Amino acid sequence: MIDQLQTMLQDALSQIASANSQLELGELKANFLGKKSPLSEIMKKMGSMSPEERKTFGMKANEFKVQIENALNARRTELERLAIAARLASEHIDVTLPGRKLSVGSLHPLTKTIEEVEDFFIGMGYNIAEGPEVELDLYNFEMLNVPKGHPARDMQDSFYILDNLLLRTQTSPVQARTLLVSDNKPVKILCPGKVYRRDDDDATHSHQFMQFEGLVVGSDITMSDLKGTLEAFMRKMFGPTREIRFRPSYFPFTEPSVEVDVSCFKCGGKGCPLCKGNGWIEVLGAGMVHPNVLTQAGYDAEKMRGFAFGVGIERVVMLKYGIDDIRHLYTNDIRFLKQFERGE
Ligand code: PHE
Repeated sequence: MIDQLQTMLQDALSQIASANSQLELGELKANFLGKKSPLSEIMKKMGSMSPEERKTFGMKANEFKVQIENALNARRTELERLAIAARLASEHIDVTLPGRKLSVGSLHPLTKTIEEVEDFFIGMGYNIAEGPEVELDLYNFEMLNVPKGHPARDMQDSFYILDNLLLRTQTSPVQARTLLVSDNKPVKILCPGKVYRRDDDDATHSHQFMQFEGLVVGSDITMSDLKGTLEAFMRKMFGPTREIRFRPSYFPFTEPSVEVDVSCFKCGGKGCPLCKGNGWIEVLGAGMVHPNVLTQAGYDAEKMRGFAFGVGIERVVMLKYGIDDIRHLYTNDIRFLKQFERGE
């Protein structure tokens, strides 16, 4: 009978070793250790054995049982390990593979410059103001000391929509609008925006471009405040050693009026092709707010004074980044825009 058990054990061990699933193992357990297994059947017969025989047989039978149980456990653990290994292999990720490249856009050089300009002036306590691009003649000209028929209207060729309505030629109407609602109080605004003029488009002109207008009004504002402000601004945009100079000029809404040059940031003032050899680059128009503009907006021009300046944003961008044709800024040629992706 022991031989019979021995054969059964070999059979059990080899079947267990080749079992391929937990389910199969469960079945083998029932077959070899369950109530109807050959082992149980044989053990039932132990009652008819002599005490001596029963002892040896019982010990053997138990030993076999333990061996089968151990084999079952070992195979179960092995199958679990294989399952985990298979899963790990199938879910393997090669972290050294290059990632999928996401194409990220970048800010347009005009937008970037406007934000930089806004940051600078907000830091100096200015508020950002806006006005409509379709503007009344009243604000674009009349309230800026340019009545109908005034020769200064010829300085800016305009797109009229109706007799009294046009595409604004400058951001200066925002000055008039702001003063009108400010009740003789101090004002400090910066107004960036689009403007329109009937110019023929070429490398340096566009019928639509952008400006930012600054206006500061208070009881003790002087021309040296204007100079200090513009000098700080030019140093921020074009380098810390820049100098500025004022040249007399004419704008109907400022008196005195000036045009402002900055010392050439390319040659440092020695003279080069960028500054056409004279060491200075013309950048903007400015002046002290004309008393007529203040009075028309309800201000007391005896007590309140101010300065204003208007800057072409494209011009600043072109100078700063060495762009030779204004049209590059509007045509969205990706080869051009890519230069600015990493902030060059
Ligand atoms: N508005 C003027 C222009 O477009 C610029 C300017 C603004 C000049 C404010 C003086 C004061 O030419």
